[in-house]
Amino acid sequence: HASTSPAAADVSSRTPPYPKLLSKLSEVRHILDKRPLTLAEKILYSHLDRPAESLLTNTQNGASIRGQANLKLKPDRVAMQDASAQMALLQFMTCGLPTTAVPASIHCDHMIVGEKGADTDLPASIKGNKEVYDFLESAAKKYGIEFWPPGAGIIHQTVLENYSAPGLMMLGTDSHTPNAGGLGAIAIGVGGADAVDALVDAPWELKAPRILGVRLEGELSGWASPKDVILDLAGRLTVRGGTGFIIEYFGPGVETLSCTGMATICNMGAEVGATTSIFPFSSGHIPYLEATHRASIAAAAGTIASAPEARNLLRADSNAEYDQVITINLSELEPHINGPFTPDLSTPLSKFSNMVEVNSWPKTFGAGLIGSCTNSSYQDMTRAEDLVKQASAAGLKPKADFFISPGSEQIRATLERDSTLNTLSSAGGMVLANACGPCIGQWKRTDDVKKGDTNAIFTSYNRNFPARNDGNRATMNFLASPELVTALSYAGSTTFNPMTDTLSTPSGEPFRFSPPRGEELPSAGFAQGNPAFLPTTGKADPTVEVKIDPHSSRLAVLEPFAPFPHSELSGLRILYKVKGQCTTDTISAAGPWLKYKGHLPNISENTLIGAVNAATGETNTAYDVDGSSTTIPELAKRWKGQGREWVMVAEHNYGEGSAREHAALQPRYLGGRVILAKSFARIHETNLKKQGVVPLTFAKEADYDLLDACDEVSTEGLLDVLRSGGKGQVRLRVKKRDGKEVVVETKHTLSEDQCGFIMAGSALNLLARKASE
Ligand code: F3S
Repeated sequence: HASTSPAAADVSSRTPPYPKLLSKLSEVRHILDKRPLTLAEKILYSHLDRPAESLLTNTQNGASIRGQANLKLKPDRVAMQDASAQMALLQFMTCGLPTTAVPASIHCDHMIVGEKGADTDLPASIKGNKEVYDFLESAAKKYGIEFWPPGAGIIHQTVLENYSAPGLMMLGTDSHTPNAGGLGAIAIGVGGADAVDALVDAPWELKAPRILGVRLEGELSGWASPKDVILDLAGRLTVRGGTGFIIEYFGPGVETLSCTGMATICNMGAEVGATTSIFPFSSGHIPYLEATHRASIAAAAGTIASAPEARNLLRADSNAEYDQVITINLSELEPHINGPFTPDLSTPLSKFSNMVEVNSWPKTFGAGLIGSCTNSSYQDMTRAEDLVKQASAAGLKPKADFFISPGSEQIRATLERDSTLNTLSSAGGMVLANACGPCIGQWKRTDDVKKGDTNAIFTSYNRNFPARNDGNRATMNFLASPELVTALSYAGSTTFNPMTDTLSTPSGEPFRFSPPRGEELPSAGFAQGNPAFLPTTGKADPTVEVKIDPHSSRLAVLEPFAPFPHSELSGLRILYKVKGQCTTDTISAAGPWLKYKGHLPNISENTLIGAVNAATGETNTAYDVDGSSTTIPELAKRWKGQGREWVMVAEHNYGEGSAREHAALQPRYLGGRVILAKSFARIHETNLKKQGVVPLTFAKEADYDLLDACDEVSTEGLLDVLRSGGKGQVRLRVKKRDGKEVVVETKHTLSEDQCGFIMAGSALNLLARKASE
């Protein structure tokens, strides 16, 4: 493919439209009567399509925008990873436009397996995924999207190195898109259908988030790292604590952090459910922008950030108000270890060995994995290298298998040039491809752990739901900084505390690690790496033909869903009542299924296979009305074949986890009409509406107990809600198997536009109709 060097790339197309944003900011200031604003509000509201409409019409004179107003936004840019880009592009194609409305990029990172190391794994994955990469590359060329081929790196690292910038607003089809907030951007993780909004220049809608301020004081030292800021915060907030919030960092501690460290902190804001996270333009940004060939952006941002408050887009106003403030003193912060199975189970290092005892967690562990989109900066890797050098000098080798996933070709090549990778691999570490690999279940484990065997691993990743890494639900993934994962790998023991404990050298001497030291940025600059991994130019070429094989098992052209009937819904049946956590991994499992992302009928075979049956405690076991048991996707298909649509009942935070829109598309494809839950994760709730599924929450949570699988459900008031653009509430009339009736009152968050999506059958149907008008 045609290549362009990032150094020579047109920096102007990567510079946020500052003049436009500043003039929008003054418009916003005027509308809001000079009310002090937080940083997140400034950037977000400066991206409003029509500021007055969003800020005034929906609220009482702008008095209570946060948590209430529906913002209609025009993002500057879109980034997509290969797994989610397929469905986004299939959807974009149905709208019949010649090119994308905003600059966009595609990153091939999710489908590359980690097994024997980059040199073997990458060619094997390219061969295995050829038809998908061909599809993505041909569509990218046709529509003018920058295509980063497999091997180029992980989306969030590449975005940080090339596209993120202070004041930018971008959407990314991956839940860790907020990583870019480390460089002062508002970057929000969305489903493919939302990305399509931006690609076709339709305003993208977001309920105005509340702002959670995190004040940082002091300075990190010793073993404490930026990762520990967010591991600690996740423990305080829990996986639901950030829902509906943007986390905005401020305070004197900000100036002590590296740009990449701030990105790590923002990355994992996704784990507490936050809409996104953001840091103000600060001293760590300047050298990073310069080192990544964007000195002109650093200069422009510097000028804006030093302007008087009224015109300052890149810092919060001095008397800005936060909805909640949490203070973290970096000087007192201890390293943390979070997990297993949930990222908010946070334990300070000094208490961890006790937790292992109390909970009977495994005392040994088999693998330590560092890198990923969360933690593969130069600083992270050179700090890990420092520990490896200390241990090697003492004659030690890691006891656990040790894997390294570089975030990008740029960082990999730089670490290779500076012999960091050599140090890590000489010690026994295996360098995997510049890709997600084990982080997203693309890990062929070759040690002796069998499916179902309880075991532990330590990773510097961000997410640790069951089965996420090796497909084994019994693998406990403990999240920590790369430094800690590295040190612990030498002990192979979960109870080892490198700050206080010693290891024994081959000659029997006690060895204790000194606190890790690293470099923030490479003194010789970043190396470019293999030119084959550079992106395409991003110029649209209408003569290119998009490649989709009609016999493909992995790609299928999308068929539109049927519109909403001109009546209330009746004769629905409850397919399944889920107990406990139901993440997007539960609804649409990753791992081997990733290869069907572009083929809706085939990937639907995994629908809800991780869901626990509330009546029996079984996983993926559903019962038909005659009492016969089968899998959830089988029963859904059977009912679909009978023309019967269904309801799913679930508990709290339904759909937490990734932005995976398949978790909404698949139930819709299989005949799901209503999801009734105690609460929803924000992105997933929006995704459901975009696909024409109605998400409802219980007005009284206890009503969950009244419902059972196979109950018959009809709606009352839903049609009125949809026709009135979201006014009123919906009640469900439920007929139990014994003939008794119960009535369940519900709540919804449908906006006027979203009612339009559901009426049309899906957001895409509505878009296609508008594009053809
Ligand atoms: Fe990839 Fe894992 Fe990050 S899947 S994008 S490395 S969270």
